[in-house]
Amino acid sequence: MLSPGFTSGKMKTLFHLIEQVNERLLTYLDLKPDIATGQTLETQNLCRRFTLDNVALSAFGIDGQSFENDESDFMKLATSFIAPGTFALSMLQTFPLASRLISLKVIPKKVEEALIQIVSDVLDHRNKSDIVANDFLQFISELGEKHQLNYAEITGHAATFFEDGYETSALVISYVLFNLSRHPEIQQRLRSEILHTEKTSVTGKITYEHLGTMSYLNACIYESMRLCPVLEHFTRVCKRPYTYKTANESPAHLKRMTVKIDVGTVCIIPFGGFCHDRHYFEDPKEYKPERFLNDNSSIKNVFHPFGGGHRICLGQRFGIMQVRMGVIQIIKNFQVSLSSQTKLPFEFLPWTILNKVKHGVWLIYKKIQY
Ligand code: HEM
Repeated sequence: MLSPGFTSGKMKTLFHLIEQVNERLLTYLDLKPDIATGQTLETQNLCRRFTLDNVALSAFGIDGQSFENDESDFMKLATSFIAPGTFALSMLQTFPLASRLISLKVIPKKVEEALIQIVSDVLDHRNKSDIVANDFLQFISELGEKHQLNYAEITGHAATFFEDGYETSALVISYVLFNLSRHPEIQQRLRSEILHTEKTSVTGKITYEHLGTMSYLNACIYESMRLCPVLEHFTRVCKRPYTYKTANESPAHLKRMTVKIDVGTVCIIPFGGFCHDRHYFEDPKEYKPERFLNDNSSIKNVFHPFGGGHRICLGQRFGIMQVRMGVIQIIKNFQVSLSSQTKLPFEFLPWTILNKVKHGVWLIYKKIQY
């Protein structure tokens, strides 16, 4: 039911909403006291403000105020949405049988109630004032009319953005900036592509259509998603008895084997392992966007940052769009370098599905004067 809400046509309309948030991101950074000489900021937090406001505007039709207020209501809501449930969710993914034995509520009651209140207020206001908005909430509310969904069900669908959408994208952006901060020459080449695209654009601005054609931008993003994957593994539950046999044409380093998989078996696909495997990626620990510039079929076989098959990431178009837009805005306007406050190698927070850096990603942002 939700897939039609994520077509490229729909993304094109949401693009304009993210443009507004992108302006606020710029203002937020411009107003930092040391931005002219170099402002140190924790980047996961910065990116979270950006993606959270995108979600607030696109999925709930409200201003999240994440840049204006360090502890905005929406930010608090998002934090309590994710925090208590993530470990439980992770355990249930790994041990799905457990979900039959224990009844676990992943979303706290007060968060659920607050979200339902937001959605019903916004929809009531739109109905009363005859407003037809161009956002995801509008799409779900029309879906709701067709399928007779109540406010709680509509809210559940809008909340998809919370659970899967805002934190993943924020982490991806922060890792891209981190990798670019360590490679000034790559950062400069990306900046040149951004400026060139703007200069040659009829409107003088980067449009939704440009995003997919900016090959170096996309190579920088995908290479970062490889080097620093936000999710280490995907899971699938076997539904039919299946016998896996290593195909004859498989790479020579793979052990030849035949494995019977019973119904109910949880299979773990080690995406992060593939990403760092030297059999597929030469110098796997190096950040080399070039490898994504060429049509490399061995990469296509193992690199699926949004998963695959029927359960592929539903919001990948929205996710990659906000990642591209956030990276463009920051790299165009700021020179980004690594702060000594960043503890390397990264340590990740335990008990979360996503790879969140424990001590933060501290980068220095210096305004570029054009
Ligand atoms: C760049 C950011 C993102 C990344 C890296 C990402 C990655 C993923 C991955 C790896 C999966 C598991 C796929 C599988 O098991 O095959 C997934 C599932 C999912 N994602 Fe994303 N995602 C991102 C952004 C988003 C956004 C913005 C949304 C919503 C607006 C979203 C909604 C979902 C949903 C609903 C699922 C579950 C699909 C299902 O089980 O049918 N994701 N995502």
